[in-house]
Amino acid sequence: MPMSASEIQKKLEWRYATKVFNKEKKINSENWDVLENSLILAPSSYGLQPWKFIVVENPEIRTQLRAASWGQAQVTDASHYVVLTTLKNMSEDYIKGYVASIAQVRGQAVESLVGFQDMMIKSIVKGKDQESIKNWNQRQAYIAMGFLLETAALLEIDTVPLEGLDPKAYDTILGLDQSDYGTVAAVALGYRDENDKYAQAKKVRFSKEQMIQRV
Ligand SMILES: Cc1cc2nc3c(=O)[nH]c(=O)nc-3n(C[C@H](O)[C@H](O)[C@H](O)COP(=O)(O)O)c2cc1C
Repeated sequence: MPMSASEIQKKLEWRYATKVFNKEKKINSENWDVLENSLILAPSSYGLQPWKFIVVENPEIRTQLRAASWGQAQVTDASHYVVLTTLKNMSEDYIKGYVASIAQVRGQAVESLVGFQDMMIKSIVKGKDQESIKNWNQRQAYIAMGFLLETAALLEIDTVPLEGLDPKAYDTILGLDQSDYGTVAAVALGYRDENDKYAQAKKVRFSKEQMIQRV
């Protein structure tokens, strides 16, 4: 039985970008597992999953990240904090590794996937410059972010997405400087503090007439 349209509508209205988290209230492991799965199950172009999600559990690292996020309190106060990182480029080896995993999971011969593999190598690795690939990878991360925010809302778990951060400083703090991955954005998750006045603020949205065009 799917959730009813009105139940989903209520959750969509319930969600807001949480400014003040309850520092004591933690997401339980069952819910956290589903939230991580929402990242893993998010779709990506060709299924390449050009990302890694860093769950920051260490409070000292959270404090350092807060300083690199304009001091935003959600970074340290939320129950959980996830940094979304993506590949700075795309290599033939990465694509071959992905194709090998399709073959393994679906019990197919790698040879039967060579056409798909070559097409990806040609159109991505050989067909785009590094900056375009990086931007493309980063766009994929926002799909995973959307899945995470929506799944949390369905569980009545509060979130705030954060782009108000210094990606270079994050990379240094997280030890990514020499890696293939770079920071894109982050999401803090947990439970709203009862004194967060933003929870009562009306949603500011342009009208459906303005934003949805029918042809
Ligand atoms: C990609 C992205 C980055 C954001 N960065 C921040 C941020 O750094 N800090 C913050 O408090 N809110 C941030 N927000 C929250 C937005 O300000 C908020 O979603 C928007 O004003 C709409 O309000 P609502 O989410 O409460 O409906 C971000 C939202 C998105 C989607």
